[in-house]
Amino acid sequence: MSDTRPIGVFDSGVGGLTVLQQLHALLPGERLIYLADLAHFPYGPRYQHEVRDFALRIIDHLVGLDTKLVVVACNTATAAALNAARERFDVPIVGVIAPGAQAAVEATRNGRVAVISTEGTRASQEYVHAIKEANPGVGVLGLAVPDLVDIVEAGEAAGPQAHAILAEVLTEIGGWGADTLVLGCTHYPLLRPTLQRLLHGGAVSVVDSAETTAARVGRILTVNRLGAGGEATVAPVLLVTAAPQRFAASAELLFGGSLPEPTLVPLWDAAALSGASP
Ligand code: DGL
Repeated sequence: MSDTRPIGVFDSGVGGLTVLQQLHALLPGERLIYLADLAHFPYGPRYQHEVRDFALRIIDHLVGLDTKLVVVACNTATAAALNAARERFDVPIVGVIAPGAQAAVEATRNGRVAVISTEGTRASQEYVHAIKEANPGVGVLGLAVPDLVDIVEAGEAAGPQAHAILAEVLTEIGGWGADTLVLGCTHYPLLRPTLQRLLHGGAVSVVDSAETTAARVGRILTVNRLGAGGEATVAPVLLVTAAPQRFAASAELLFGGSLPEPTLVPLWDAAALSGASP
């Protein structure tokens, strides 16, 4: 029997589209609904309880759209809300930290893994827990690199500022001896071309959780007999909580013209939106 209900995916902005892309590539017959919470972007510098409340409200909305599984395509929201969300909702919920940690443990040869992320993710120490859960013998260096989020969101992932920040990061993790770098923010895979230029194919493996998260979703659908089963490719639906034009512009810059137009879903009232980014 096939289950044609959609899969819900969310992030604070365009970063989670890196996960959406991998889901779409691996599971082309699944209906995907992506929600970007631009009303509260960025999540990284916010208090954990704030991000948790946003995430729970979004998951509630996605569950209301009859989703069969929800992917928290944001490391900061995964760190802040995954456990609370699993306690509250019956729908299977998948975060991006455990898949990224697993990929890192499989990639490292010297047992030294560096993780770059937002401040919220670093402060939560969830990568340390997840990596050491997978292999307690692995050492972890966590670095917050919050400026990269705005740079990516602005479509400047290949620009000189990204280049300079990443060069500094690579010097620091090289000094510490990491042979593996986890891109612990769903915006960061868009920096891969800049990173590859800096690494010159060197000794550091770069891992992100987009592909491993998609693979995990595929396994969960199979084990729980939730797969849509169809062969036909279904286009994703895009929702934003604010600034649909800004979202469409960043998404087009980053992913070309391949994405549909986003629809505005005002999940928060005007008062709650007073702290929104322009
Ligand atoms: N995409 C988010 C993450 O993976 C970060 C963006 C933000 O700060 O809102 O952590």
